[in-house]
Amino acid sequence: MEVVIKNNVYTQLKEKVPGVIFFKPVVFILCLMPFFFLLLNAINNNLGPNPVEEMIRTLGDWGIYFLFIGLMISPVRKVFNVSWLSRYRRMTGLFAFFYVSIHFFSYIWFDQFFSLQDIVKDIIKRPFITVGFICYLLLVPLALTSTTGMMRRLKKNWGRLHKLVYPVSILALLHYFMMVKADFLVPGVMLIILSVLLGYRLVLSLKNKRKRT
Ligand code: HEM
Repeated sequence: MEVVIKNNVYTQLKEKVPGVIFFKPVVFILCLMPFFFLLLNAINNNLGPNPVEEMIRTLGDWGIYFLFIGLMISPVRKVFNVSWLSRYRRMTGLFAFFYVSIHFFSYIWFDQFFSLQDIVKDIIKRPFITVGFICYLLLVPLALTSTTGMMRRLKKNWGRLHKLVYPVSILALLHYFMMVKADFLVPGVMLIILSVLLGYRLVLSLKNKRKRT
């Protein structure tokens, strides 16, 4: 009897836990945490000797983390058979856009003081800024078409357009590599992750092609 009850409770929990623990508002608030901590540290003058650099870097870091988390959702969902994960793909993608947008806005405000001339000059002159800017331009259509309505309207083209996430990730990582001078550990790990993900996509599309022929 006890075993049956335990089994039932276990089965129910197993089914509900992902939904209970990871339900959307909680994940949403968790994703906002880095922003709130950054804001709190900025208000308390707690961003170290170079607050502008610290702020831009932290926002860039979270932008690329969310981009990669979003990229990993599909393969992780398929490999570990956790279908509920796909509910968070749009959210992580939009958080990537959110963090990168304030990364860019902080650069425009605190690094270039809203001087359009200086911003254009910088984008042309410094290759790592050029790469970051192109990457951001490619990210914009992905964010704008992330709604269910757009998904329905664009049909097959939606999937085609959203493949842009791969060049975006490559450019984002290139932008990261181009600006780090010493500590290559984090971008190095990200390069491994991206290579595995691209390899996985390649194998999948080859398999699909073979099935069709
Ligand atoms: C609009 C285009 C962009 C501009 C102008 C820009 C600007 C910058 C600048 C100035 C830095 C260096 C901060 C410093 O050391 O003072 C930086 C670093 C960084 N950016 Fe961007 N960025 C852009 C787009 C992006 C995008 C699209 C991503 C990722 C999706 C990204 C991710 C990063 C990362 C990860 C770093 C390194 C942070 C670290 O060192 O920990 N950036 N960016």
